[in-house]
Amino acid sequence: MFRNQKRISLFIATLFAGLALETAPVFALADGQALTPPMGWSSWNWFGCTGASGNRVAGFPGNKNGIGISESITVQIADAMVSTGMKDAGYQFVNLDDCYLEHLRTNEGGLQALKKTFPKGIKAVADSVHKRGLKFGVYSCVFEYTCANVYDIQGNGQPGMWGYEQQDADTMVAWGIDYLKVDYCGYLDHQSASATPAEKAKLAKDRYTKIGTALKTAVSKARAAGKPAKDIIFSVCEWGFHEPFNWAPEIGHLWRTANDIRANWPKFMEQVTAALNLYPYSGPGKWNDTDMMEVGNNVPMNESRAHFALWSILASPMIAGNDLRSMTPEITALLTNKEITAINQDSLGFQGRKVKGTTLTTFVVSKKLKDGSFAVLFVNGTSSAATISATWAEIGSVVPSGIPAGEVMRVRDLFGKADLPNATGSFTRADIPSHDVFMFKLSGPSVGIKNKPKSISLNSIDFSMNYSAKDVKIYAKSLSPVSFSVVNLKGAIIQKSEILGTGNIEWSLPLEGIHPGTYFVTMYSGKNSLRKKLVIN
Ligand code: GAL
Repeated sequence: MFRNQKRISLFIATLFAGLALETAPVFALADGQALTPPMGWSSWNWFGCTGASGNRVAGFPGNKNGIGISESITVQIADAMVSTGMKDAGYQFVNLDDCYLEHLRTNEGGLQALKKTFPKGIKAVADSVHKRGLKFGVYSCVFEYTCANVYDIQGNGQPGMWGYEQQDADTMVAWGIDYLKVDYCGYLDHQSASATPAEKAKLAKDRYTKIGTALKTAVSKARAAGKPAKDIIFSVCEWGFHEPFNWAPEIGHLWRTANDIRANWPKFMEQVTAALNLYPYSGPGKWNDTDMMEVGNNVPMNESRAHFALWSILASPMIAGNDLRSMTPEITALLTNKEITAINQDSLGFQGRKVKGTTLTTFVVSKKLKDGSFAVLFVNGTSSAATISATWAEIGSVVPSGIPAGEVMRVRDLFGKADLPNATGSFTRADIPSHDVFMFKLSGPSVGIKNKPKSISLNSIDFSMNYSAKDVKIYAKSLSPVSFSVVNLKGAIIQKSEILGTGNIEWSLPLEGIHPGTYFVTMYSGKNSLRKKLVIN
C-alpha cells in the first residue's frame, strides 16, 4: 500500500508536469449520462438551412436540396439509421440542428416549429424518432438568436434561449428530447470589447450553467408532475473559444474544441490538432467534441476513412452529418464498421494520444482499451504514400507499465477485419496512401494483466490497490456483491462504483481531476465494509 502511494505521487507529478495546461481537469457531471461518446446523426453538415434565396449560401454547409431540413427528411433519416445498420452499429441520436423554428416566438413567448418544413411540430418528429428505437435531439443558442441569424439566412435565424431559458427547457422536455446542443452566436453583443479572457470565460460558463440548470429543473418538474422525462445530454458548442474544458465538464457532457468543421482535409487536421493535447479532460461523461462528421459529404474515400478513424480513436462524439438516405455502399460500410465504433465506445473512455510524428506529415495515435489492449492509428498526412511504423515503447507510452520490447503481440487490422501475423517489438505498415490511415488493435498475453492483485482474500472482505495509466486499480475477490466509494477527508464522495458483482472484481478509479490529498476507499459487501487510506500528492 505504502509503496503504491509513493508511485501514485510520482505518477501524478509526471502527468501534470508534462502538460501545457495549467488547471487540473474538472469532474464530469455525476448523472451517469454519456459514459461513452454520443453516437448519432445531425442535420447540419449536409442539410443546413434554407437560404433567403432558397439556395445554398456560399461557404455554408448543406442545403443542397434548397429545402434545408424538414420533418419528413428527419423521419426518413431515422428510418435509414435503422435500415442501413447504423443503429445496430451504435448510433442512437437523430438531432435537428439550426433552422427548425420560426424566427418569432408566440405571444406567450413559446417556440414554434417552422410551419413550412415542420407542419406537424417538433413533438411529432420526436415521437416518430422514438418509435424507431432511437433518441432525439434539438439545437438552440445561449443568446437571442441562433447562428443562422449571424449568417443572415432563413429569415434571420431561430430564437435562442436568452431570457427564455426555463420556458424553452420546459418546452423541450415536453417534446421529449434526449439531447440538446447549445450554440454561442450573439456573444459579441453581450461581451465588452475590453473583456479579459477570464471575464469572457465567465460569461460563457454562467450562461451555459443557466441553461444546464434550466434543463435539470424542467426534467424534475416534469417528473414531479408524473410525466416521463428523460435525462438530457447537454452539448456545449462555444467552439473552444474560452477553454471550455476547464468549466464545461461540470455543466455538460461534451464541448466543442474548435470552430466549425468543413468537408476538407486541412479542416480535419485542424480539429484533430485542437483536440490532441486535451486528452486529460476527456473521459466517461465528459468528451472533447471535434464536431460532427463530414464522412460521405463528397469527401474522398481515403479522407473519409481517416476522418472516421480519428474521431473514433480520439473518443470524440461520432455524429454523422451526411444524408443517410443515399449513402454509397462504401460509406455505409465505413460508418457501420463495428470494430472501429467499438474503439470509440470502449468503456475505459481513454482519448487516444499522439505518440509519434506531426499532423502535417505522418503520425501515430495510441488508445488504451479496457481489456488492456491498444488501438493504434497510423495517419499519413503527406501527399504521397508512406511507410509508418511504431515500436512497443511508443505505443505503450500511454500507460506507465508500457509494453515490453520483446513482447509477442497479436495484430488485428480493423479496416481489413483480419488478424495479421503476430509482431514483436514494433509494427510497420508500408504503402499507406496519402491522406489515409491504417488502424489496428494490438493485444498480447501479458498486456492488461500486469496489475493482477498481489494479495486478495477469498470469502472475507478485503481488497488491494495498484496504479496504472491514470487510475488506481482496485481488486477484490468476493462471493457476495461488492461496491466501492472514495471519500475525501470531509467525507464528501469523490467517486462511487456501482455494485460490481461477485468473483474477481476490478474497479478503476480515474485519477484525472482528483486533487492531491488524503482519501479513503471503502469496500462494501452486504453489511460489511472495509476502509483503506489512499494518499495522492
Ligand atoms: C455553428 C455551429 C455549427 C452549427 C451552426 C448552425 O455555430 O458551430 O455546428 O450548429 O452554428 O447555424
